[in-house]
Amino acid sequence: MLDIKLATNRTTSGAMAVVVPSGDPFSALELLNPVDQAEADAFLDDVEHTGSPGSVHKLPRPGRKPSKLLFAGIGEGDEAGWRAAGAALAKAARKDNALRILVPHDTAGVAIRALAEGLWLASYRFSLTDDEPDPLRRVTIALPAGAELGTALDQARAVVTATTLARDLTNMPSDRKTPAWFAKQVVKAAAGTPGLTVEVREPGYLRDNGFNAILTVGRGAGAERGPRLVELSWRPRGAKRHVVLVGKGITFDTGGVCIKPLAGMKLMRKDMGGAAAVIGATLAAAAMRLPVRITALAPLAENALGGDSMRPGDVVTHYGGITSEILNTDAEGRLVLGDAMAYAVRRLRPDVLIDLATLTGAQGVALGKRTAAMYSHSDTLAGDLAAAATASGESVWRMPLSEDYAQEIRGDLTDIINSTDVGAGSLLAALYLREFTGPLRERWAHFDMSSPAWADSGDGELTKGATGWGVRTLTRWLEMETAA
Ligand code: BES
Ligand code: MN
Ligand code: ZN
Repeated sequence: MLDIKLATNRTTSGAMAVVVPSGDPFSALELLNPVDQAEADAFLDDVEHTGSPGSVHKLPRPGRKPSKLLFAGIGEGDEAGWRAAGAALAKAARKDNALRILVPHDTAGVAIRALAEGLWLASYRFSLTDDEPDPLRRVTIALPAGAELGTALDQARAVVTATTLARDLTNMPSDRKTPAWFAKQVVKAAAGTPGLTVEVREPGYLRDNGFNAILTVGRGAGAERGPRLVELSWRPRGAKRHVVLVGKGITFDTGGVCIKPLAGMKLMRKDMGGAAAVIGATLAAAAMRLPVRITALAPLAENALGGDSMRPGDVVTHYGGITSEILNTDAEGRLVLGDAMAYAVRRLRPDVLIDLATLTGAQGVALGKRTAAMYSHSDTLAGDLAAAATASGESVWRMPLSEDYAQEIRGDLTDIINSTDVGAGSLLAALYLREFTGPLRERWAHFDMSSPAWADSGDGELTKGATGWGVRTLTRWLEMETAA
C-alpha cells in the first residue's frame, strides 16, 4: 500500500499538487509560494481549470523545484470531491516517486480521509506475482503545524485495508480460491487483533448441525473443494448492540447442472464478493475499535458441475427446517444464504441482520454497473444505509419487496422453491431470503450487489476488476450507528 503521511513541510523538489475548488479555482494560488503564483495563475487561466471533481492539470517545470505542479479539482469540497481528487492524483502522479499535496489551512478531517481513500483505492493493483509496483511510493499531505488529522488518516487506512482484502479475495482465480483457502485468508487477516475471533466450520460439522443447503450446493465440487462456514466475530467490551452481516461466498458459480453459457460464467470467480465485503467491514470495524458487536457469516461453496451435483427437482431442508425445491441449480446463492441467515436468527439473535450477495443478473439489468439493489421493510434502516453508501462513495437504490410476488416462491412439495419464471428476478431472490429472517423481518436489509462488485475498467477510485463493493457502505453505517 502507498505510504501516505501527514507533515508540515510544504516544499519539495519532486512533484507537488494543490487542490482547486470549483467555486473559486484561483484560491489554489494561495497555497503556493509567491514566486510560483504568477506562473500558476497564467496556467490555470490558460487551461481554464474549473476545479471540477477529479480533473487534473499538469504543469511540468523541468530542472526547477518543484519539478511538476499538479492542480486537482475538488468540486464543491465535499467528501466525493476530495475522494475524486485523491483518485485522480494517484493516477496523474503514478510515474513520480513521491508526491506532496498542499491543502488549505482549514481542511477538515472528512476531507483528509476522503483524499487518502481516493489515493489508496485508485492505486490498488492485483497481481499473482511480485512484479514491479508503480513508481509512486510516497505521498505527503502537507498540513499546517498542529493540525490533529491523524485519526482521519487512520479511518481511511482501516477502510482501505479492508477494501483491499475484499478486492484481493474477489480477484483471486477460482483454481486457487477454494472455500478452505478463503477461510484461511480470514483466519490470517484476523490474527493479532484482540477481540476478533474466527471459527471455520467444516463439512462434518455442517452435516451434524443441519446446514444441508450449504452442503448440497458444495457437493458437486468434491471433498478437496468442499464447503465451509466462516464465522468472524468482533466483540468489544461494553457493546450494546449486535449486528450480523451475512455474505454470499460462492467461490465459483458454473450454474451447476443448469450450466451457464461461457459469457455468463467467465467472471463467476467474483461470486464471493458479498462474503469478502462482510469480512472486510468487520475487520475495518475492529481496526477502528467500534463499540458494537459484529458477527460476519460467510457460507462458502463452489457451485460445480459433477456426478454428485444437485439436480433440478431435488429437495433440501434448510438449517432451521424450511424445505425448498431446487428448480434451478444456478439459483444457489439463496440456498447457502438461507442456511446462514436461519442460523444467525436462531442462534445469534442479533438486533439487525444485513446480507450482501452477488445474487442475480437481473440486478444489473435494473440498475446498471455501479448501483446495488437494497431491500428492507424498515424505512429507518434503509435510510441510514443509503446515507452511509452515499457518504462513503458507493451507490444503492432501494427496491420494493412486492407482496404481489410473494406467492410465486411457494412450492407444491415444499415450503418454497428457489426459482420461478415470472421475471422480477432480483426481488424474487429477496423474497426468498426474507423467509429466513423470522422475528428479524423488520430489522433486516438485503443488498443484491451483483454488478457493482466488478468494474470492467478503471473509474475514479475503482480499478479494473473487483471493487470491494460494500466494505465502505457497511463500515460507514457501523461508524454512524456507534457515533456518540
Ligand atoms: N451468481 C449469479 C448471479 C450473477 C449474475 C452475479 C451476473 C453477477 C453477475 C447467481 O447465482 C445466478 O446465477 N442467478 C441466476 C438466478 C436464476 C437462475 C433464478 C440468474 O441471475 O440468472
Ligand atoms: Mn448461480
Ligand atoms: Zn451465484
